[in-house]
Amino acid sequence: MGIEFFTRLPLHGEAEFLAGDPRNRGDWARVSGVENTGATSNYQVGDDFTYIDYLAQVARAAEINGFAGALMVNAPTGEEPWTVCSLLARETKRLNFVTAFQPYHFSPYNAVQSAATYQRATGNRLVWNIINGGSEVIQRQVGDATPHDDRYIRATEFLDVVKGYWYNESFHYQGKYYSAEGGGLKYPLNKAELPIICTAGSSEAAREFGAKHADYYLMRAEKPSEIATLIADVRKRAAKYGRDNIKFGLSIDTIARRSEQEALAEAQRYLDEAAEKQRLHASAAHAGLRSARVLSFEKEYADKDGSKNVNDFFIHPNVWSGFGYIGIPPGVALVGSYQQIVERIKEYNSIGIDLFFLAGYPHLEEAYRLGEHVLPHFKNQRQALQRIPEESKYRIA
Ligand SMILES: Cc1cc2nc3c(=O)[nH]c(=O)nc-3n(C[C@H](O)[C@H](O)[C@H](O)COP(=O)(O)O)c2cc1C
Repeated sequence: MGIEFFTRLPLHGEAEFLAGDPRNRGDWARVSGVENTGATSNYQVGDDFTYIDYLAQVARAAEINGFAGALMVNAPTGEEPWTVCSLLARETKRLNFVTAFQPYHFSPYNAVQSAATYQRATGNRLVWNIINGGSEVIQRQVGDATPHDDRYIRATEFLDVVKGYWYNESFHYQGKYYSAEGGGLKYPLNKAELPIICTAGSSEAAREFGAKHADYYLMRAEKPSEIATLIADVRKRAAKYGRDNIKFGLSIDTIARRSEQEALAEAQRYLDEAAEKQRLHASAAHAGLRSARVLSFEKEYADKDGSKNVNDFFIHPNVWSGFGYIGIPPGVALVGSYQQIVERIKEYNSIGIDLFFLAGYPHLEEAYRLGEHVLPHFKNQRQALQRIPEESKYRIA
């Protein structure tokens, strides 16, 4: 089985220390009245260096260390990912960028045209993560009142239209949310490749959408047995659409160190800091991005009763849910020696994960740790991301 590694760019600031700590990098952690010790700028528009320069360093570190791409999360409070990947494309040579967006952010044609330009300029380095919003409250705050399951119907239409425009010069469509009367990509834009498509979400509606349209169905880490169940379910749904080759991605943080003791000490440092700042709480990390389905390890938080013992949060060997407990998304990390992390990656790979999103804190340093000590173990298995070939399905004769 092939395997590929992406990392993540921190579009909400670094979190080596908990949010609000003045030692974090850039202006994301700035607290009014507290002198920020982080580097990069004076936090004024027009400074020579900005937070984007730090993200560029992480992106360069990622490609120097052998990562094939970088995930960027889209949240209304974060930096906007498609803009960031446009800014960083020419600071990098071959790194792929995963930009997340919701269908309501763009019209299908606007998304197609923007992606085609990006692909032509970068050698097809764009990957799309089509998201649909986990929180009704946040959706409404930013102007989308469409109910949860309807958002997935809209997303399904959105990609039907995107693929129609991409593969046809004159495409016609009439749906509930979108219509098209003869538009489509023309030369030279149509030389570009459609971005590889990822999606996530564990609701029924999300799984069905992913089954029909995603090349990669992404998940937040859970116990391997639960990931295996989810994979089997989505595979079954995808088969209905003749898509036997759908692939799976896992987002999991890492605390990778020379020894297990060193890694545990670092994980414990987070819990100690959270206890000191009274941030031990049984709430899901990043509520706006979480799934409609409460994940099993989140249900277990209630039993921890304010624990700050690092060992209480292992849900499987080396699989640690402590980050979620203190509100750091995606919530689960591989904690251990380099060798232990290699073994755990092999375990998730053996149950069907082809694509790993690995990142740790600070992102720059963890990219080097992973690049030097973990990724080399997989060098003979690496396989570039693959699209499900279905151009003929969308091309109108
Ligand atoms: C790897 C991964 C990356 C995600 N990235 C984003 C993101 O950038 N923005 C966002 O709003 N949600 C993101 N999500 C959340 C999902 O897209 C989805 O909205 C959420 O799981 C709720 O789906 P559900 O209610 O249908 O289960 C991500 C999920 C995963 C597993």
